[in-house]
Amino acid sequence: MIKIAPSMLAGDFSQMGEQAAMIEKAGADWLHLDVMDGHFVPNITFGAPIIKSIRDKSSLVFDVHLMISEPLRYIPDFVKAGADVITFHIESDSPVDETIDLIRSSGCKAALSVKPGTPVESVFPYLDKLDMVLIMTVEPGFGGQKFLDNQMAKVRRLRDEITRRGLKTKIQVDGGVSPKTAHIVAEAGADVLVAGSAVYGAENPAEAIDSIREKAEAAFKA
Ligand code: DX5
Ligand code: ZN
Repeated sequence: MIKIAPSMLAGDFSQMGEQAAMIEKAGADWLHLDVMDGHFVPNITFGAPIIKSIRDKSSLVFDVHLMISEPLRYIPDFVKAGADVITFHIESDSPVDETIDLIRSSGCKAALSVKPGTPVESVFPYLDKLDMVLIMTVEPGFGGQKFLDNQMAKVRRLRDEITRRGLKTKIQVDGGVSPKTAHIVAEAGADVLVAGSAVYGAENPAEAIDSIREKAEAAFKA
């Protein structure tokens, strides 16, 4: 029911293939891949060629989080690289409907994300055709930041709207999720939890995943 998506941002980039395989064995459900362009956010990570190079190292769902200014322009590259879920930001410069439609017609699941300062209602016009909404629980750009629990009102509001419309849209949270905060996000109604430093930074990633899952499942309210 709850999906755990470790973020490679907190991993060792010189061993991405091995770390993708390791995290699958450790019990992850999805692999979260943070793409940053140094323009939409003040940091640069990696792009489609790197994702393509690790695609055959793991059979996990590749959950690609695009923190880039022009997602529409690069969707075909990420589809070809092997993305399963593609998330882009409503604050980006690309037309939202067209970008969602291209992701879906390419055979991928489409998700839209909001930064901490963006109201959740901004995604409501698109909700019926989204597979997932990502509520950021830190300012995008860097791992290891403090969890913003003031975003939980947005998660609750979104969960209510999804229920009201009878949709199956998933709610993802990303930023500062750990065994200490997992129950808070799940209680608010999130069902896909991204965790970077809490998993890749842990001495025992399998234990960290188990602990996050256990706490989230006990608290989850759909
Ligand atoms: C931040 C990224 C996150 C990041 C989370 O911009 O989108 O996915 O890796 O890292 P932690 O879990 O360490 O906050
Ligand atoms: Zn992310």
